[in-house]
Amino acid sequence: MKQQLEKIESLAKEEILSCDDIKGLDSLRVKYLGKKGEITSILKQMGKLSAEERPIIGQLANKVREDIENTISEKLKALKQIEQDNAIKNETIDITLPGKTKQIGKLHPLTIVANEIKEIFIGMGYSIADGPEVEYDYYNFEALNLPPDHPARDTQDTFYITDNILLRTQTSSVQVHVMENQKPPIRVISPGRVYRSDAVDATHSPLFNQIEGLVVDKGITMADLKGTLETLMRRLYGDDYKIRLRPHHFPFTEPSAEVDVMCFNCQGKGCRVCKNEGYIEVLGAGMVHPKVLEGCGIDSEIYSGFAFGLGLERIVMRRYNINDMRLLYENDLRFLEQF
Ligand code: DAH
Repeated sequence: MKQQLEKIESLAKEEILSCDDIKGLDSLRVKYLGKKGEITSILKQMGKLSAEERPIIGQLANKVREDIENTISEKLKALKQIEQDNAIKNETIDITLPGKTKQIGKLHPLTIVANEIKEIFIGMGYSIADGPEVEYDYYNFEALNLPPDHPARDTQDTFYITDNILLRTQTSSVQVHVMENQKPPIRVISPGRVYRSDAVDATHSPLFNQIEGLVVDKGITMADLKGTLETLMRRLYGDDYKIRLRPHHFPFTEPSAEVDVMCFNCQGKGCRVCKNEGYIEVLGAGMVHPKVLEGCGIDSEIYSGFAFGLGLERIVMRRYNINDMRLLYENDLRFLEQF
């Protein structure tokens, strides 16, 4: 029996050491140490032994069992280590590879400034009105006191779809839509694209953006207009900025004014940018003409209002010191990424 046990031990060790996977190791454990394993089957025969032999063989059997167990667990450790090493080797990532960068979009400078102006007016209780870019002659001209042969139409030549339908030349057309659909008090701004058949150059484009403003209520005066525009310009450019109203003529306002803002470059002293004026023209404005109010069914004896229209591009160009309007439309990322 002793020899049997010794033979089992050496065979088992040999098999264990040459085994190279964890599963195989497990079946070796069953084979040698399991309930139906080889050592158990020898221990079952212990009854046949004499009283002196029994403890000696018992001890030996236990030692063999322990040795085999140790060998198995050492081998298991070694196999697990190999497995882990392999896993690490297979899963390594090359951290020197360039990563995948996400291109994050940005708002266009025209959108940035339009949003800012909207915020300023929403803060003053205005709402945003929208109107069609393809417009009837009536809304773009006639209802704004520009009848068919009015000479001021010449300065706003546009693209006609039919004799009667055109691409709007000014957001002032939205004033009429708003007044037709809403009773005073009215307080709206309306940003949007407008069109004119102008040749492209550094300060002209056949498509550009305006922001219209309209307030109609009882007792609205020119002072309200001036205060509102002053608030707008100070919020946009800073508290030091003064505005100046110059008499002008628009068919749909009476009286009318052109509004200048102190030159950002020289702060009113006069320089090349403002052509020595100290001020730069930024928008047109005035008190809504009674004819326009009446045409929209608003009693001009009871209500009065002011309106203004500003060119967004001009404000954006001043804000960012851009000297060519075309840059705003060319969609060159090298330019746009700066904002
Ligand atoms: N619509 C005018 C233009 O495009 C600008 C303008 C002037 C708008 C006076 C107004 C206004 O609302 O009252 O030149």
